[in-house]
Amino acid sequence: MRLGPVFGAAIAMAAVPLATLLVLAASAALSPVAAMAAGAVCALAALLLAAAYTRDVHLLADTLRHAALEHEGGGSLPLALPRFPALQRLALAIGRLVRVRDARTAEVARLSAANEAIVESLPDPLLVLGEDRQPRRANKAAREAFGGAIAAVLRHPDMRAAIDRTFAGVGAQTVDLHVPVPVPREVRATVFLLDPPLPGGTRAILTLSDRTRERALDRMRADFVANASHELRTPLTGLIGFIDTLRGPAADDKAAQSRFLAIMAEQAARMNRLIDDLLLLSRIELDEHQPPLGRVDLASLCARVVAGFEPQTAKRRMALLLAVAQGAAEVTGDADQLAQVVQNLIDNALKYGREGGTVRVELAPASPLQGPVRPGIRLVVADDGPGIARQHLPRLTERFYRVDAGRSRAVGGTGLGLAIVKHIVSRHRGQLGISSEEGRGTTCSVWLPIEPP
Ligand SMILES: Nc1ncnc2c1ncn2[C@@H]1O[C@H](COP(=O)(O)OP(=O)(O)OP(=O)(O)O)[C@@H](O)[C@H]1O
Ligand SMILES: [Mg+2]
Repeated sequence: MRLGPVFGAAIAMAAVPLATLLVLAASAALSPVAAMAAGAVCALAALLLAAAYTRDVHLLADTLRHAALEHEGGGSLPLALPRFPALQRLALAIGRLVRVRDARTAEVARLSAANEAIVESLPDPLLVLGEDRQPRRANKAAREAFGGAIAAVLRHPDMRAAIDRTFAGVGAQTVDLHVPVPVPREVRATVFLLDPPLPGGTRAILTLSDRTRERALDRMRADFVANASHELRTPLTGLIGFIDTLRGPAADDKAAQSRFLAIMAEQAARMNRLIDDLLLLSRIELDEHQPPLGRVDLASLCARVVAGFEPQTAKRRMALLLAVAQGAAEVTGDADQLAQVVQNLIDNALKYGREGGTVRVELAPASPLQGPVRPGIRLVVADDGPGIARQHLPRLTERFYRVDAGRSRAVGGTGLGLAIVKHIVSRHRGQLGISSEEGRGTTCSVWLPIEPP
């Protein structure tokens, strides 16, 4: 303990009694000896009192210094208790205050860790922007979706304009952006200010949701409606034309009437087929997420379907051969849907194959076309026709996609056959592969698992 403050305090305490003794001695009310003795006692008492008081005050100061430290220390405060009761109460109060503060600090740390975890695990990308409009933080989804391209997103002119408007106080802004990197994407960005700003320079939040799939689905839906209407309109227009002709110029022409009626019947049948195929497709799509549970003997199913094609085979003088390898047993599936698959593939091979050519239908136990080895059966339908140019192969299973639309329509095709095959195979958790060599022929392979998925 430094002595200066002790003496200072002692002088302050003893000043009044000493001055009183001095006045009493001077006015001869007290003998000089008694005054000196009383003065000495007074000075000693003040010195002792000041020493004890100064020690207590220093203790309090140390306690406060500890309390001011950020780390938790409330449990050990006060360090030691002052002797003066009033100072004792003060020290205890400081201890309580620090314990409350430490509990709050721990609570805030827990809340901020929870916030951090929530932001980090949000499925949509989220960026935290600072006062300078630069990203301070990006959550996991943002890092995964954009990686190093976050700066490019923020530099997009529409994005910059939206951020500027938000910082100008106009309120939250939402913009749709086309982001070309790292892969082309349609992104909806929403930016809003945090008011007041958070500590650490957080001024605004920017969320980015990927709308690419949604947009593609919208486009597909619109395309589908346009395509379906177009496919129906063509035969319908023909029918209306023939009805007009039958009512007018050909009203009395018996020969023309029967010729036109035959064409009209064919057009009506085509519309019927198209509607059947569309309904079939939507039914398959409806339960595509539910794998079938029945057992189907593929060998006898193929034999039945092949037998049904005899008239078409004969008409184009083609050979339709079925080869079933040993062990090509049952699969888990829906018999009607699998018959549809075999039917559509053989129908294509006979329609687009070479006149007088050969179509081979083969069944054999096999592993999947891609992915890990699993027991299954491969169905192959191969023709030796003109084949399909490589650029068309990836699009063959799209609805209404035809390599040669004129030829397909001429042979009664709706362009939905392979789309139906694809959806049925996908419902069976199987795999479809189409390979073709121009001038050599086309091979369609379907792999189906033997055991239910
Ligand atoms: N074996 C094949 N050889 C050559 N081209 C084929 C073969 N199979 C399919 N294609 C081509 O793929 C297109 C799409 O076939 P898909 O079966 O989906 O429709 P489609 O045969 O035209 O009509 P649908 O099957 O509905 O009657 C066909 O229009 C045809 O151009
Ligand atoms: Mg077809």
